[in-house]
Amino acid sequence: MTWLNRDVISSLDFNREDLMQLFNEAQEMENYAKSKLNILDGKIMATAFFEPSTRTRLSFEAAMLRLGGRVLGFGSVEASSVAKGESLGDTIRMLDSYSDVIVIRHSLEGAAKYAADIATVPVINAGDGTQNHPTQAMLDAYTIWREYGRIDDLTIGILGDLRYARVVTSLIQLLSNFKVKLRLISPEILKPRRELLDFMNMRGMSYSLHLNLNEVLSELDVLYVVRIQRERFPDPVEYERVKGSFKVSPESLIGVKDTLIVLHPLPRVDEVDHRLDSTRYAKYFKQSALGVPLRMALLKLILKGD
Ligand code: NCD
Repeated sequence: MTWLNRDVISSLDFNREDLMQLFNEAQEMENYAKSKLNILDGKIMATAFFEPSTRTRLSFEAAMLRLGGRVLGFGSVEASSVAKGESLGDTIRMLDSYSDVIVIRHSLEGAAKYAADIATVPVINAGDGTQNHPTQAMLDAYTIWREYGRIDDLTIGILGDLRYARVVTSLIQLLSNFKVKLRLISPEILKPRRELLDFMNMRGMSYSLHLNLNEVLSELDVLYVVRIQRERFPDPVEYERVKGSFKVSPESLIGVKDTLIVLHPLPRVDEVDHRLDSTRYAKYFKQSALGVPLRMALLKLILKGD
């Protein structure tokens, strides 16, 4: 399927061929992530962020500016007329008439799809609810591909909040296009939801569930860590029970493969020790830096075509 004018709502909308095209384009864009192109001269990207964001919004903005386009939008509910009671639908209608592409983040599941149904311009989901954050998953998979030159035949551990972290669902959906072994590690109450397990079974993915990182650490090529999503817990008491229950530090990485890479979508709270940052395993800052070329590739493919 061609990328031109395509919405980006869920990882499930993209197959291996789409992803390889995106990754090759992103690798090309790495040459220009600190300079200026004029590929999207005259185009405008609107950002509608109804939830906090640092990396996703700013890397989308940097990507658009590097491509020669321009950006407008808001970064919080307070900064928009939603604070006066305007509906999501009306807000999207306005942005649709002011821009060529809309990037949206929202706390409600399905908000991006709803926006895409209203808008005539392409809509990109920058995270909605607890299930979807497809461009983060693309970035995560791209980082793995750049580090290893492939994704197939890798053993990937995902540690943390496997229940409420939308990056986890989107990443697993995207990885179903590749032949990987997944090791899913979390406290009991943060295990993946039934739907995600059903999805992995349906796609014939190789995975196992664990309570303790040590059970799988020595076989991992990638360790992907995600914070406990405090704001998405229905019950604060439940959060208190699991907070601080896992932490990756230089000491905890004993017996790992030399080539292990540790990824994290960020922000981190306390699940990755800051002393890990200076070790060769830490790739999470490189991962967030790759957000610019990856999103440049995405915007170019959607607004300009293949
Ligand atoms: C993620 C998100 O918003 O879901 N952040 C991001 O985009 N890098 C992950 C998180 O908040 O933990």
